[in-house]
Amino acid sequence: MDKNSWTYSEEVKKNFLHPKNFLEKEPKEGDFDAQGEAGSAACGDIMKVWIKVDLKSEKVKKFKWQTWGCASAIASTSVFSEMVTERGGMEIEKALKITPQQIIERLHGLPSIKIHCSVLADQAFKDAVKNYYAVHSS
Ligand code: FES
Repeated sequence: MDKNSWTYSEEVKKNFLHPKNFLEKEPKEGDFDAQGEAGSAACGDIMKVWIKVDLKSEKVKKFKWQTWGCASAIASTSVFSEMVTERGGMEIEKALKITPQQIIERLHGLPSIKIHCSVLADQAFKDAVKNYYAVHSS
């Protein structure tokens, strides 16, 4: 897809209309190990994420999220949540290395003006990991 296009890819539309791992209800005590948050200076939108991590393997077992962000933020976070939890979960160290480019590739492109929306999940995840290690130091 042309990054200067105004058109969203089918993958963006699919993930926006049917987002994966969206947190519908407020979590109960013990549902997750840590929470993280990020805000976009570009638009003022907020992303909140919750993670559950396997203590031994340090694999991300659950990644849930909520946002007031736009369609691009929703689609990007939906694919990020799949990337870190699929195939039994990604190790935290590896998940921290996911780049915005990898997210955008999986979305089959994103208009360049929307790139700042695609980094919110990753930034909120980093905040959650920091909070996770504050309690579960390795
Ligand atoms: Fe705010 Fe996309 S415009 S997250």
